[in-house]
Amino acid sequence: MTKHNTIVITSEAQQSFSSSSLFILLTIFFAISFQVIFANTKDQCYVCHSTIGDKQSEHFANDVHFKKGISCAGCHGGDATADDMEKAMNKSKGYIGVPKGDDISETCAKCHSNVDMIKQYNSSVARNQLESLNESVHGKLATNGKEHIAQCITCHGVHGIVKVSDPKSPVYPSNIVATCTKCHNDAAYMRSYNPSLSVDQLEKYRTSVHGMKNAKGDVKVAECASCHGSHDIQSSIDIRSKVYAANIPSTCGKCHSNAEYMKEYNIPTDQQEKFTRSVHGFALLQKKDLSAPACNDCHGNHGATPPGISSISKVCGTCHALNADLFSQSPHKKAYDEKNLPECETCHSNHEIVHATDKLLGVSSEAVCSKCHSETQNQKGYAVAKTMRALIDSLVKESKTDSQLVEDAEQKGMEISESKFKLRDAHQARLETRTMVHSFNEEKFREVVNKGFSVTAFVKAEASAILEEYYFRRWGLGVSTLIITIVAVSLYLFIRRIERKQLEEKKA
Ligand code: HEC
Ligand code: HEC
Ligand code: HEC
Ligand code: HEC
Ligand code: HEC
Ligand code: HEC
Ligand code: HEC
Ligand code: HEC
Ligand code: HEC
Ligand code: HEC
Ligand code: HEC
Repeated sequence: MTKHNTIVITSEAQQSFSSSSLFILLTIFFAISFQVIFANTKDQCYVCHSTIGDKQSEHFANDVHFKKGISCAGCHGGDATADDMEKAMNKSKGYIGVPKGDDISETCAKCHSNVDMIKQYNSSVARNQLESLNESVHGKLATNGKEHIAQCITCHGVHGIVKVSDPKSPVYPSNIVATCTKCHNDAAYMRSYNPSLSVDQLEKYRTSVHGMKNAKGDVKVAECASCHGSHDIQSSIDIRSKVYAANIPSTCGKCHSNAEYMKEYNIPTDQQEKFTRSVHGFALLQKKDLSAPACNDCHGNHGATPPGISSISKVCGTCHALNADLFSQSPHKKAYDEKNLPECETCHSNHEIVHATDKLLGVSSEAVCSKCHSETQNQKGYAVAKTMRALIDSLVKESKTDSQLVEDAEQKGMEISESKFKLRDAHQARLETRTMVHSFNEEKFREVVNKGFSVTAFVKAEASAILEEYYFRRWGLGVSTLIITIVAVSLYLFIRRIERKQLEEKKA
């Protein structure tokens, strides 16, 4: 305080001040200082306890509550204006002693779940943390059966609570990992709650780009709370969880789609946008198909790292096992390894994977094969790509013709269920060829295509025979109708002749 005064008096800039303005300045300064001291001296709990020199009041001097003029009595109750111990710490004055178990969070909630109470202190920190906490996974009953798993002080500490944006806060990005893993790294403790829950989050996290940078003090990378939330943490199978499969793209996208936030890192910020447009994104987000991958299925949960060149087919192969197997045995395996090309991504991309169509195959400009194969470059593959596409095209054409024949016969009321059933085999063979493309081997490919051709040939023969029979029957029906008509007409004429004869006979 005195130091400030000397600065004011000796500073050259201040010397030009008149003595009256200096007086006013000093008055204001002392008034402010006095107010601060007064606010704290009013708190007899603090005054007495700090004279005793206990740890609580020592820590409390840096507490965000202390700085707002909140007394020890704000949490413990009692009469903060009484300098007598008995009077101050008296139950009749609301003194509660040391809160235990759930009473701890209830104590904090007295203010933090009460918007008006918080506003009274000119603070904008108003949110019902206790309600979220009680509904969260940490709001479950602890093994002692008496209280919730976590209290407010488990994560924020007590007597020395600072703003969450203060680097000293236990929930500040560089400290939160330790705060959460205090429990989550403790195998014995976690087992007592949920034996199936792993305790390797920290270990894996430290292998990820996030975890490595976090350890070096980068506070912008993802930490436990940026992916899981804070008061509202849920199990990942809970639809409300930030890491529930369908919510993951937006959880990651909160940072990864924010170009401003990611500015200093030289990586694209289009992953979420592209993923949402992809066949996987459509399946997961629109069709709610949980078998489709979210960001973490390819990148890992805690080990979020871009899959390396060699691991990409393994990532895709966890779901598309057949494609990955075929690829590994294909001539491309060696060729791609040598050129350091990613296995599946080279043809399908990573975030914007679209529905694969026949257009990808062949030697047209749309075909992926054309990127590397031409009449002059890697010719052998060029020839095979051309053949594969031609074979697929003709199988598609044959199947189409067959379907038309079958439909035609059905409309004409002919029994054709067997052929119709067989058509499914042709469709199946067609699907198999799409996968078999990944062998990049003409012989193997022909085997599957030929299976398709033998089905289409069978159906074609069968359907044609049935249609022929139909036309034959229709011709037969035509002839018999004609004969019957002729007979009927002849009969009619014959009868008329007889009748006329009888009439003439009568007249005569
Ligand atoms: C004149 C001194 C004095 C004043 C005023 C005073 N205390 Fe204490 N307080 C003590 C002493 C000494 C102890 C330790 C004695 C004991 O263990 O019973 C103590 C103990 C406590 C404890 C721990 C009790 C426990 O069961 O372990 C709490 C909590 C506490 N005080 C809060 C307060 C609050 C809140 C106020 C203001 C409303 C306050 N004190 C005012 C001297 C004081
Ligand atoms: C923001 C609320 C809050 C304020 C303000 C607060 N306390 Fe506490 N205090 C607690 C809670 C909660 C506990 C229980 C801690 C635990 O179970 O670990 C506690 C425990 C204590 C204890 C028991 C010993 C211990 O650490 O467990 C003492 C003594 C104590 N407080 C004294 C004080 C004094 C003195 C002040 C003012 C200088 C004060 N408290 C201000 C919440 C508060
Ligand atoms: C599992 C750990 C955990 C528990 C338990 C916890 N918090 Fe928090 N709290 C955090 C984290 C992490 C943040 C900072 C990130 C954020 O703002 O969501 C935070 C932020 C806060 C903030 C700053 C404003 C805000 O809401 O963002 C307040 C106030 C707060 N907590 C109060 C409480 C109270 C009161 C309780 C008890 C009812 C509690 N916390 C329990 C982890 C926790
Ligand atoms: C008497 C009312 C009151 C009680 C009781 C209380 N708080 Fe607070 N708390 C406040 C106010 C007011 C602020 C806002 C301070 C500010 O804006 O600078 C605050 C701020 C905080 C912050 C910092 C939020 C931020 O801006 O980052 C945390 C964390 C916090 N309280 C946790 C707790 C915990 C934990 C307890 C219980 C042990 C508790 N509070 C009990 C009134 C209270
Ligand atoms: C006091 C110890 C403790 C602390 C601190 C703690 N947790 Fe937990 N957490 C648990 C326990 C116990 C469970 C298991 C509850 C159950 O399933 O019965 C759990 C469950 C979870 C789950 C749900 C797991 C699942 O899929 O079922 C997540 C996610 C989680 N915690 C994340 C966090 C994060 C993030 C933090 C830090 C902000 C944190 N925890 C801090 C004890 C703790
Ligand atoms: C980059 C985002 C991200 C970060 C950072 C992160 N998690 Fe997770 N966490 C996830 C995802 C995603 C899941 C699993 C979802 C699933 O099972 O499909 C998960 C699952 C969990 C589980 C359930 C058990 C398990 O391992 O599957 C716990 C507990 C957990 N995390 C705790 C933590 C803790 C503690 C930290 C901080 C060290 C942390 N997480 C950091 C995204 C993250
Ligand atoms: C809190 C913001 C934040 C969240 C949430 C977040 N990330 Fe990150 N992530 C970053 C930052 C910052 C980097 C560092 C970029 C760098 O250094 O290249 C990073 C790096 C990465 C990288 C490495 C990129 C590279 O090539 O270096 C991958 C992969 C990644 N994140 C995936 C994810 C996934 C998947 C999720 C969701 C489960 C996620 N992130 C959630 C901020 C975040
Ligand atoms: C189908 C698998 C898959 C899914 C789903 C996926 N990624 Fe990726 N991601 C990859 C691959 C493969 C790479 C590697 C690219 C490379 O090394 O060339 C990558 C690269 C990245 C990178 C590094 C920078 C870049 O763009 O190359 C980030 C960051 C990233 N992904 C974030 C995400 C986020 C966020 C999501 C969800 C919205 C997501 N990824 C979904 C496979 C996937
Ligand atoms: C978690 C499982 C999973 C992972 C990992 C995965 N996929 Fe998929 N993929 C699916 C599912 C499910 C579909 C079907 C979506 C739909 O159409 O309903 C699909 C569809 C596709 C399609 C479109 C298929 C078609 O019929 O046109 C392609 C191409 C594809 N994935 C390629 C990849 C590649 C490349 C990777 C790796 C970078 C990959 N997938 C990783 C599950 C996965
Ligand atoms: C050289 C280019 C190329 C590479 C490399 C490639 N694919 Fe394909 N993929 C194709 C073509 C072309 C088609 C479409 C065939 C068709 O429909 O005629 C296709 C179709 C698919 C389909 C849809 C058909 C089906 O099998 O269900 C999936 C899924 C698929 N690819 C996954 C993968 C995976 C996983 C990898 C990596 C192991 C991979 N692809 C590597 C070219 C490639
Ligand atoms: C990223 C470049 C690239 C793409 C895209 C690509 N190939 Fe290849 N392919 C190669 C290389 C390099 C070789 C090995 C050199 C060679 O044998 O011509 C090869 C070899 C082949 C072979 C083996 C030829 C032999 O020697 O027996 C076949 C078959 C083949 N490719 C078919 C295809 C088909 C079909 C497509 C499209 C679906 C395709 N390739 C797309 C680069 C590519």
